[in-house]
Amino acid sequence: MKTALLTGVTGQDGSYLTELLLERGYMVHGIVRRSSTFNTNRIDHLCGEEAHPHLTLHYGDLADSIALSRLINTLQPDEVYNLGAQSHVKVSWDQAEYTADVTGVGVLRLLEAIRDVQERTGKGIRFYQASSSEMYGSTAPPQGLATPFHPRSPYACAKVYGFWQTVNHRESYDIFACNGILFNHESPRRGETFVTRKITRAVGRIKMGLQKKLSLGNLEARRDWGHARDYVEAMYLMLQHEVARDYVVATGTAYSVREFAQRAFALVDLDWEEYVEVNPKFFRLAEVEHLLGDPQDTCDTLGWKPQTSFDQLIEEMVETDMEMARRERVLHDAGLSLCLAGVGNE
Ligand code: NAP
Ligand code: GDD
Repeated sequence: MKTALLTGVTGQDGSYLTELLLERGYMVHGIVRRSSTFNTNRIDHLCGEEAHPHLTLHYGDLADSIALSRLINTLQPDEVYNLGAQSHVKVSWDQAEYTADVTGVGVLRLLEAIRDVQERTGKGIRFYQASSSEMYGSTAPPQGLATPFHPRSPYACAKVYGFWQTVNHRESYDIFACNGILFNHESPRRGETFVTRKITRAVGRIKMGLQKKLSLGNLEARRDWGHARDYVEAMYLMLQHEVARDYVVATGTAYSVREFAQRAFALVDLDWEEYVEVNPKFFRLAEVEHLLGDPQDTCDTLGWKPQTSFDQLIEEMVETDMEMARRERVLHDAGLSLCLAGVGNE
């Protein structure tokens, strides 16, 4: 039985990858940050009352190199997937140093712990780094492996650092380390402050009479949006391949935020223009206008291809968020309400 260790197990991708690895017979260990409220809702079906016997959670943090080293040394996993990060681009301007530490230096901490085990015991540990299309920033589309990076946020700068540390450990210490440069991927489990989920949550709440307007920032930004479930399959395939290298994971088609909103509202027979308003507080200090990936080489090398179309992705998200809004409506009518407060500028 193979063993995998995941950072970011409580996140969108972590939850899908955990399901995939458990289905494929892995023993899965996940690192969870201690929080004052529960943060395991995306994996509660795997670690709640009927816990999966092959999933174990450990407290840890990408800022805590001793805890990371101890875990890697004790578990000596076959594969490490680094999905943990302060992953919100706009928040990274507010928390630039923290983002550099966790999203950037966190990668180095993991790689050094792996190197230590490999040098002392000879045990090879394969490493996946969740690199990002944000690294391309303002370079013109389409973006592929040969495209230069031009990061446009503290988050993207931290990801560039993590990318090169991964390459460097592969070249210096012969660690089987791969960067997956993933373009945006979404799902009903997407965090509610990323634009797609912010839109589909609002669609559900507006349709159910729980919200009046949706405030967004730049409607013209274009993204290559895929489904997280498809993308975790690519991560897994990278670590099964005979050669360690880097990959671009994308659909090869981009749409604007405006088009996403238009289609999401239309699914519940609403005209988006009646509800969406533009608020400058959601604009970025430096915007990434157009991300469009070229996944051909990845498809050829790994035999991977995206399974979910743009419209199917939106449909799945709207359907789930309509259901959530129906339940919220029942609570609301009973005089109870869910707290939806965030900081509010994401
Ligand atoms: P996500 O939903 O925001 O999940 C991030 C995960 O990182 C969560 O489990 C979070 O824990 C954890 N985390 C945050 N700070 C941490 C810390 N200091 N120590 C340990 N763990 C920490 O992100 P995602 O969408 O699943 O993305 C997964 C990875 O892929 C991230 O590295 C992201 O930057 C990268 N990426 C994402 C996309 C995309 O479009 N989704 C594209 C390219 C790259 P809590 O649950 O406690 O917050
Ligand atoms: N979040 C947000 N909120 N974005 C908005 C809004 C809004 O109200 N209005 C417009 N946008 C625009 C942003 O300016 C950006 O151009 C685009 O929508 C996508 O924003 P996000 O959904 O926040 O994602 P992102 O592209 O910045 O970052 C995501 O994808 C990266 C991969 O390219 C994150 O998942 C990163 O972690 C990931 O690396």
